[in-house]
Order: sequence, then C-alpha cells, then structure tokens
Amino acid sequence: MSERETIHLAADLSFLHTDFLWRMPGSWVGYPYYSSSEFYEDIAKTAESGRMDLLFFGDTGGTSEDFGGNHDAVVRNGVKWPRHDMTPMIPVLARVTEQIGYALTMSTTYHHPFHCARTFNALDHVTKGRIAWNAVTSAYKWEAMNWGFDVMMEHDERYRRAQEFLDVACRLWNSVEADAPVLDREAGVFLNPEKVHRLDFRGDYFNVRGPLPALPSPQQRPLIIQAGQSGPGMDLAARFADLQFSTRRTIDSMKQHRAAIDERLAKFGREPRDLGILWSVRIQVAESQSEARAKEQAFLDSIPPEGGLIEMSQWFGVDFSTADPEMTFADFADQVRETSGNLGTFEEIVKTTDPKTTVRELGRDYLTKRILAAEGTPKEIVDRLEEIHFETGANGGFILGRGYHASNNIREFVDHVVPELQRRRLSKTEYTPGTLRDNFND
Ligand SMILES: Cc1cc2nc3c(=O)[nH]c(=O)nc-3n(C[C@H](O)[C@H](O)[C@H](O)COP(=O)(O)O)c2cc1C
Repeated sequence: MSERETIHLAADLSFLHTDFLWRMPGSWVGYPYYSSSEFYEDIAKTAESGRMDLLFFGDTGGTSEDFGGNHDAVVRNGVKWPRHDMTPMIPVLARVTEQIGYALTMSTTYHHPFHCARTFNALDHVTKGRIAWNAVTSAYKWEAMNWGFDVMMEHDERYRRAQEFLDVACRLWNSVEADAPVLDREAGVFLNPEKVHRLDFRGDYFNVRGPLPALPSPQQRPLIIQAGQSGPGMDLAARFADLQFSTRRTIDSMKQHRAAIDERLAKFGREPRDLGILWSVRIQVAESQSEARAKEQAFLDSIPPEGGLIEMSQWFGVDFSTADPEMTFADFADQVRETSGNLGTFEEIVKTTDPKTTVRELGRDYLTKRILAAEGTPKEIVDRLEEIHFETGANGGFILGRGYHASNNIREFVDHVVPELQRRRLSKTEYTPGTLRDNFND
C-alpha cells in the first residue's frame, strides 16, 4: 500500500445529541449540553491521539415544522435541534491540539463569498493551516425562512449560485499571492503591491472588487469539502473540492459514485487523486460479536418508534405524522421530489430501497440504517473497512457518521479500532508535518 492509500479518519460531530443519543449512557456525562468547550476539547484530544485527520461540524439554521405542522416534535426530542454556530469553538479546539483539522460548514445559498473568504482566511491563520470548509447549498425550507426567503431557492439554482460563489471565494483567496508579504523594515515595504490583485468580478449573483484585505494564510485556501450527491452537486465537487462526504450504502453504489466523480473530475482537468471521498459509516465495536450485537440493540431500542418519521419529515419536507403507515415508498416518492430538498441523498435511498417498503418500516430503520453500519470486534470492523476502502479505489477514508455518542463511542473507536487499522498499516501512526492539506495529500 502506498502512503497515499492511507485510510483517512474523520468524525462528524454535528449529531452528538440528536437521534436520541443524549439519552444513551456515557453521552455528555459530566458536561453541560453545548455550553462547554471542555467537552469538545476532550473529543479533539482523543481523536488526535488516534491520529484522526478531521473533526467535522455540519450546520443548518432552521427549526423544522414538517412533522405535525409545528416544531413540537423536533424540540421535545432534540431531533437535529438545537444547532449552535460552532465557529467560535474552532480556535478554542485549535489551541488544545496540534495537528488534527477542523471542518466548518457555511452555506453558499445564504452567505456572501467575501464574508466566507475572509472568515476562512482568518480561521486558517488561527488554526495554523488546519481548517476545512464544508460548502453546502442548504436544502431546508425552514432555514430559508430564517434567511428571509418565503420560498426556498430551487435546487439547480442553488447550485448555479454555488458555482459562482466558490469561483469568487477562490479568486479572493488567490488575490494576495503567497510571497506578497515582504516585511522589510529598512526599506519600508510591507507587501509587494504587484502580488496583490483586484478581482473586478461581476457575475449573475455577486459583484466583488477585491482583493481580499488579508495576509495569505498557511493553506492559501481552506481544504474544500462538498457533500452534494445530485448531478449538480457532483459537478461542484469535481470542480472545486478536495474532499467529498458520501452516504452511499453498498459497495456497488460506492463504486458507481467513485466512477461518476472520476469522470467529472476529468471534465475539469483534474485527477482522481485530487479528490478523496470519506464514506459515512456507523461503528458499533465490542470485544465480542455478541457484545457488539447487544450494544447495537440497546441503541436501536433507545429510539422511539416515531423517531425515524420525524427525521424523514425534516429531510424530505413531507409530513409523515399523518401518513398512512401502510403507504409504500413508491406512493410518496413523487411528493419528495417536488420539495426539491436533499435530492441526491433521496435518489440513493430510492436505489437501495424496495419500493414496496411501507412508511412504518422505513421510519423504523431510517435513523439506524441510512448509513452503512459496521458492527463487531475490532478485527471484524477493520476487515470490513479494508474491503470497502480497496474496492472503492483506496482514495479517501471514512467519517464516523450518525448514531454514535460522545465521549464514549469516539474513545472506543480510538482505543479499539484505530490500533487494528494501524497494526495493518492502513492508517497513519504519525501526522504528516504541515497543514491539513499536506496531511490528506501524503
Ligand atoms: C455527509 C453529508 C453531510 C452534509 N452536511 C450538511 C450540512 O452540514 N448542512 C447542510 O445544509 N447540508 C449538508 N449536507 C447536504 C448536502 O451538502 C447538499 O446540500 C444536499 O445533499 C443537497 O444536495 P444534493 O441534492 O446535491 O444532494 C450534507 C450531506 C451529506 C451527504
């Protein structure tokens, strides 16, 4: 295995209390919910001791009223709610760690590229080159309403705006060349003006004169992540992203995804190695298979029967509180497509779900089976991860996705799964010196 085939490891910290995880034993124990940085510091140090590459914070800024026509269910149960702005947490975490990277989400639909470029330049400076930007187009109407839109911008239009947004943001990050700073006290030259460029950009969505009034940061631009799974989402990733998150659930579907993104990368003159994929996976590890099964069962039992339906309503903008539980998947698929929400993710579910599956069955499984799960002993889990990694081109790694809680589950992963990965030389025992990008590129 070459260095570049390393299995990179990340963890999604967006859902540590949701999916009813706040009720699990060992979840948030000793820490107040959200109001303490110590909780995240503890996770970051644990993850860094396992040489994990990246901790990820997703973001959506809405309160769903899809289930039952009001926010009662999501607030009462804590379903993807609350979602705090995690930006201020990043510098705090960067201070207590040295090499692990941090990914922050910012929407291309609701922000301005100048604000985005400036914020991520500053975060890249204070993290010493360890910041990543998860560029999302935002697929939720309740979030749209918080940003002043009565009607959510249509799916493909969001992606057209995103293309221009990323183009402008990258131009801003390039507007001050890396060797522009001179800092010659005797000559009195701070920066070389010839290496600082205006953009004079006038587009369909944004007009930006530039340059970015900031010193170039260690990575020049953040590592860019794009998680859209639809055609336009894949195009955006192929043009700009260094990494993609994907929730594909079978090896076949992962292979198709990899082939599709490679084809698109070629269209933009890029190589497959220019974009790694982190596959979402849920891990249930224990000393024995039966113990792992029992832990998984305890997790499944902790989710109330309507849990999956609340979440499905939120994802797809359809009210499943009043749906006939015997209605089949095929019966409501058209309605979902009309909402123009998470289309790429939905099409993956279409591909991997029997159309005769009922709403009752889907709701039961939605929270637990939507992403790939690996359950068992460390050896069994690493066998599975190794198989997926090499079957799909050994180009990226895994992100611990939904359904794990902290601090317990992340510590278990680092204590039991990572050593087996390292023993087989599948994941690194030391970080590559330098920036987050250097670490992913080795
Ligand atoms: C693993 C993963 C993480 C995501 N994180 C976020 C997020 O934090 N905020 C958000 O608004 N969308 C998030 N998304 C949604 C996508 O970025 C994208 O906006 C959405 O899937 C709709 O685009 P699509 O139709 O191209 O799939 C995520 C998607 C995936 C697969």
